[in-house]
Amino acid sequence: MTYRYILVLGSNCADRGAYLKQAIRLLENNRLKILRSTAVLKTAPILVRNQQSFLNQGLLVATDHRPDELLGVTRLCEQQAGRRQRIRYGPREIDIDIVWWSEGSYTSSELTIPHKYNRARHWVRRFMAELLPQEVDNETGVQYMSMGVKPIQRVQHFLAKKQAGEKIAMVTCYDYTFARLLGRTSVDCVLVGDSLGNVIQGERNTLPVTLEDIIYHARAVRRALPDAFIIGDLPFLSYQTGVAGAIASAGQLIKEAHCDAVKLEGGMYFLETVQALNECGIPVMGHLGLTPQWVLRFGGHRLQAKTREAAQRLLTEAQALENAGCFALVLEMVPASVAAQCSKQLTIPVIGIGAGAGTDGQVLVLSDLLGLDPDFKPRFVRHFARLSEQVIAAVEQYSAAVREGSFPSPEESFQNPVE
Ligand code: KIV
Repeated sequence: MTYRYILVLGSNCADRGAYLKQAIRLLENNRLKILRSTAVLKTAPILVRNQQSFLNQGLLVATDHRPDELLGVTRLCEQQAGRRQRIRYGPREIDIDIVWWSEGSYTSSELTIPHKYNRARHWVRRFMAELLPQEVDNETGVQYMSMGVKPIQRVQHFLAKKQAGEKIAMVTCYDYTFARLLGRTSVDCVLVGDSLGNVIQGERNTLPVTLEDIIYHARAVRRALPDAFIIGDLPFLSYQTGVAGAIASAGQLIKEAHCDAVKLEGGMYFLETVQALNECGIPVMGHLGLTPQWVLRFGGHRLQAKTREAAQRLLTEAQALENAGCFALVLEMVPASVAAQCSKQLTIPVIGIGAGAGTDGQVLVLSDLLGLDPDFKPRFVRHFARLSEQVIAAVEQYSAAVREGSFPSPEESFQNPVE
């Protein structure tokens, strides 16, 4: 029987390209037929950071080896190629991972297929997308084609995505645990938004949120996502009082929370601020339409740019923000046609929320897309999950198990001390 596998090769020692080539030759000598190979990608080391970057390559191979046999073959090839024992996640002459098998999943004491970090590693997702674009990831039900996107690692990548016609998927996050989960997805960037006032603090609006709150939450998110592009929201009155104050606040988000960029709400009045932040080296994402920090003046969270005149004003402000140096713009709760026109008019990407499908990307509040609050379902939110139901059921089952004495079981308890 012939099976197909995807192998991912990596090397970060000496002549990395030569190690990859040698590994391929050795695999071919061990009854593996290379059906297709990907381009070689340069990737940053994970976990142990002070080492050379890796060269990685994906291979679609055919062979009669079953998974554990193939594992033996890959280990032998690593050895023959000169791999030396070093610390875990340290430098490697050659590393060969088996990440996918045509027969589905496989688990033994030595090997798990699909590899548990497949989705967490953008290069593996990209190799999967290149080699088997139509293949559906069994954990998420999503095709690799969708997940095999280049990660946003620098501010320039926003523009590159728009130019390449790739939509940007942005999501908010406020804590370490959820951020770790985001790190196992292909979402493009993370906003530590002042919406934490609503969803974390239970406030009626975002006005009470402080700069310290954003810093606290952004630090937690950064710990979980060392390589992600994280945007920190400038909260109410942390930038409205003047350019110097805005620089100091934005500077804190960069220095203390290690954000890659800041976001501020508002248009014409803040052009000088956007320019000054850029001059200090701080990338700025703009935010127009429904700007929740103006909720008292708007008289609620209402659709904006409803009249032709208001729409024209919004387009003028959006253009002015781009000219002042914003690298992207959030457009919240505006008619779809206005948002689409804005996206067409601007060079920078427009990321919509409640702004229709014609923008260059979308942002949603994480708890909204997860359906953590079943009662909060404005028109523009889609619940991609119904986690509230799962949370309630899990806590109810736990409580019942405690009350009836079935939790913890002997296996979940520690044994008596030995005499
Ligand atoms: O604070 C936030 O979460 C936001 C997004 C909704 C764009 O500003």
